Amino acid sequence: MNKYAYTMKVAFLGLFLGLSPMAQADAAWTVRHLVNEQSIISLEVTENYLLLPIQDDAPEGKIAVVKDNELEGTFMNVRLARERVDSYVPFALLAYKGQHVSIDIQGVPESALCWKELKTAETFDMTNKESFRPVYHHTPAYGWMNDPNGMFYKDGVYHLYFQYNPYGSKWGNMHWGHSVSKDLVHWDHLKPAIARDTLGHIFSGSTVVDKNNSAGYGKDAIIAFYTSASDEHGQIQCMAYSNDNGRTYTKYEKNPILTPFDGLKDFRDPKVFWYEPAQKWYMIVSADKEMRFYSSSNLKDWEYQSGFGKGYGVQPNQFECPDFIQLPVDGDKNKMKWVMIVNINPGCMFGGSATEYFVGDFDGKEFKCDTKPEVTKWLDYGKDHYATVCFSNTGDRVIAVPWMSNWQYANATPIRQYRGANALPRELSLYTKDGQIYMAANAVKETEALRKDTRKVDNFTVKDEYKIDEIVPQTDGAYELEMDVTPGKAQVAGFELLNDKGEKVKIYLDMKAGKLVADRTESGIVDLTRYGEVTVHEKETDDHRKTMSINYKNDFALGTWAPLSLCEGKTYHLNIFVDKCSVEIFVDGGRIAMTNLVFPTKPYNTLRFYGEGADYKVENMNIYKLGL
Ligand code: FRU
Repeated sequence: MNKYAYTMKVAFLGLFLGLSPMAQADAAWTVRHLVNEQSIISLEVTENYLLLPIQDDAPEGKIAVVKDNELEGTFMNVRLARERVDSYVPFALLAYKGQHVSIDIQGVPESALCWKELKTAETFDMTNKESFRPVYHHTPAYGWMNDPNGMFYKDGVYHLYFQYNPYGSKWGNMHWGHSVSKDLVHWDHLKPAIARDTLGHIFSGSTVVDKNNSAGYGKDAIIAFYTSASDEHGQIQCMAYSNDNGRTYTKYEKNPILTPFDGLKDFRDPKVFWYEPAQKWYMIVSADKEMRFYSSSNLKDWEYQSGFGKGYGVQPNQFECPDFIQLPVDGDKNKMKWVMIVNINPGCMFGGSATEYFVGDFDGKEFKCDTKPEVTKWLDYGKDHYATVCFSNTGDRVIAVPWMSNWQYANATPIRQYRGANALPRELSLYTKDGQIYMAANAVKETEALRKDTRKVDNFTVKDEYKIDEIVPQTDGAYELEMDVTPGKAQVAGFELLNDKGEKVKIYLDMKAGKLVADRTESGIVDLTRYGEVTVHEKETDDHRKTMSINYKNDFALGTWAPLSLCEGKTYHLNIFVDKCSVEIFVDGGRIAMTNLVFPTKPYNTLRFYGEGADYKVENMNIYKLGL
């Protein structure tokens, strides 16, 4: 709504003022409830924040600041508490200190609990309140997170942006949240870098370091590309630039820079990269069921080149979050290949969202895939690996970060203060197996800095069973297991991660089926129904990000598997990272990666090895307690 229309609406509703003005006895503010579930808080701003009481499953209302009868910025959606307060989120008023403002809240009935529970405060308490919060994985301090966005590396700092809702722990109000790290494992939270605006949500995208000043904002300016998404404007590509190393961005005044030529509804997640042979920038945009390439000299004007992907990989699907990288095959720099990373939703072998990739060649116009359309290669074989994209400007290294969830139940995990974690950053590389080129994804070597205590376990043979009673003394549920497993003639060689409540994750090599399996059917909380209860409002929307599935048990309580044919040998090298609510398995340097969430009501602290068919060997085993 424009400012004029807004002023008129408030003026009109003003005729009804005086309907039950509700003064807060001990606060410098009053709430007036108008008609149609609109309320106006009138406030002398003396403190930094208005703390909003949130109820996770309440329908969304909306909130905005009004100053001198003008709307400031745009409305944000917020699930204000109706009958229960699950958590608080801060609504920043710092900019208005010492001034009078009105807060316009719409879509929340007068009977809602929130009116009693609203507070103002000078600070916002971000102390962790969640027992499932990972120890060493990146999470937002509060609020909702999905896809990693716009990651770049510069001057020794990794910048990680992410799809972020600062006003609740469910998807909404997409901003680019921002964290930085010097080593990919210790992260500091910064203020969100790009906020939802009148063009819409700030959806996923990428950044580049503009080394040649192509865009004209200075050498080494950071240029961000993202999708603005709204019902009014659809999905359009926009640009913003930063002259302070990605801390703050100015949106390009002539946005959008790219719209779909055929009016596509799903047209998003621009990935921009420099293509040396053409001395040009290229952008890939996911366009429904394909990826589209564009090129540009100035990062502002984009020319269509080609499309790739229709009919490729798993069907049916929806392409999202592309990346496009070049890597040597088997470490040979004379044999470079291009890889297109395609995140798809749905399409995962185990339901919901997952990441596939295609290996081939690029000539500056078109990408040609080496394999037939029906060949699908997976970057990860778990159920909680999505929206994976890579850092820009990392030289020879290609480092990817996956979001560790699945759209089927991402909004329903048993966590309130925040939702969403990123999986461990992974180093990508290409290897050949049986004449095919595959991409390995291994936990970055920087994760070794997390190893606090090392316990070496003597080599052992598993006859029927072999137990390690205490994985880590008084564990907080954060450790890594490393071992070589040689199944020999055993048909099954595996182990359970167990707690004393009988909750367990089974991880085993099924040699008959040629599969590595991780089974979380009895891993703890597996029925997410209670947490995923949705309001009628949500069920009516067709937005998959809000409610894709309502079978919160069957979608979670299952096992995932990977083909052992990706590995070479008789002995399998395993690195398994456990962190409160996740289990990430890497076999043989990432030839198999498998990422799964788990919600044990107590940390798993016993290992029970078991086998079938014959004895087998476990060697070179280390248990590392992990911490920051
Ligand atoms: C993928 C995705 C993207 C989109 C973003 C919105 O998870 O659907 O395609 O940009 O999430 O939050």
